[in-house]
Amino acid sequence: MKIYLAPLQGLTDWIFRESFTQHIASFDKTFTPFVRVQSGEFYRPNQCNDLLPEHNIYQKPVPQFLGKDIVSFKRFVELCLEQQYTEVNINMGCPYPMVTGKRMGAGLLAFPDVVKQLLTEVFTKTELKISVKCRLGQENADEFKQLIPILNDFPLEEIIIHPRVGKQQYKGETDMDAFVRYAPQLKHPVCYNGDILTIADVEKILKSAPQVNRIMIGRGILQNPFLLFEIRQQEITQNEKVKMLRNFHLSLIEYSKQKYSGDLHFLKRFEEFWSYHAAGFENGRKIYKQVKKCKTLANYEAVVFKAINELE
Ligand SMILES: Cc1cc2nc3c(=O)[nH]c(=O)nc-3n(C[C@H](O)[C@H](O)[C@H](O)COP(=O)(O)O)c2cc1C
Repeated sequence: MKIYLAPLQGLTDWIFRESFTQHIASFDKTFTPFVRVQSGEFYRPNQCNDLLPEHNIYQKPVPQFLGKDIVSFKRFVELCLEQQYTEVNINMGCPYPMVTGKRMGAGLLAFPDVVKQLLTEVFTKTELKISVKCRLGQENADEFKQLIPILNDFPLEEIIIHPRVGKQQYKGETDMDAFVRYAPQLKHPVCYNGDILTIADVEKILKSAPQVNRIMIGRGILQNPFLLFEIRQQEITQNEKVKMLRNFHLSLIEYSKQKYSGDLHFLKRFEEFWSYHAAGFENGRKIYKQVKKCKTLANYEAVVFKAINELE
C-alpha cells in the first residue's frame, strides 16, 4: 500500500513536509499545496517558494497546478523544469467558490470540454509525468460519468479521487458507492483520498474497494502523525513517539522563524495547525484553547512543549 501526503494549503507546506520527513517518517509521495496560475501569471507569486529546491531537501514533492488554461500551465511547467521536477499534479478538486466560480479546481469538472481541451494541450508536448487530483463532480457525482472517457484518453500517471463533490466542500459524507462504481472504469492507477483518520477507516475502504493500493491522507496525519506507522504495521514505543513529536515541533518552529517575520503570522499558522493536531491529544481541547490565547512565540513554545512533556 502506497501512502501519500495530501496537499493542504497553509498546512502541509515545505515547513511541515521537511519537518515530518526528517523527524517522523517518509511518505511514498508528497504534494505541494496548489500554486494558482491565471492567464499565464502566478496569482500569488510567494506560493512558488514552496517548490524551491532549498526547501525540499529531504523529499521532493509533486508540485500542484491550479488553473484552467494552457498558457498558465506552460508557465508552471517552466518553473517546475527549472527546478528539476519530473511530475506535476493538476488540481481538479479545490471546492472554494472563488476558485470554482472561475472554472478552476472542482469547477472544471462540470465542463468536460474544458477538461478535454486542457489535457489535449497539456499532452501535446510534455516532458513531465502528469497526474490529476479530482472530486466526482462540482454539483453531483453523475458528472464523473462524462469525465471517465476523457481521462482514459490520456496517459496520466495516476488519478487521486476525493469522493465528494465540489459544492459539499468538506461537509457531508464521502460517496464510497460512487467511488467503487467509477474507479474500476478508469484505466489509470486510482488513489483514494478522504476522511482517513484511523486504521479502521483504511480497512473499511479496502473492504469496499480491495483493488485500492494507494491512499492519500491529509487531516488524519495532522491529527495523528503516527498513523503511517499503524498502517505500515510498524511498532514504535511511546518514548520514541514523544521524541519524534518533540523534534518535529522544534523543527516546525525553527523553519517557521525563517518564514514569518512577526509573531502574529507565526501564531496564526500554528493556530490553524492545532485546530487539527489537538484532536490527537487526550486534553486536546484545553491545549487548543491555550494555543489560541498565545500572544508571543515564547508563550507558544511553553504551551507546546508542556503538552508534549505530559505525554511521557
Ligand atoms: C485547509 C485545507 C487546504 C487544502 N488545500 C488543498 C490544496 O492546496 N490542493 C488540493 O488538491 N487539495 C487541498 N485540500 C484538500 C485535501 O488535499 C484533501 O483532498 C481533503 O482534505 C480530503 O482528505 P483528508 O480527509 O485526508 O484531509 C485542502 C483541504 C483543506 C482542509
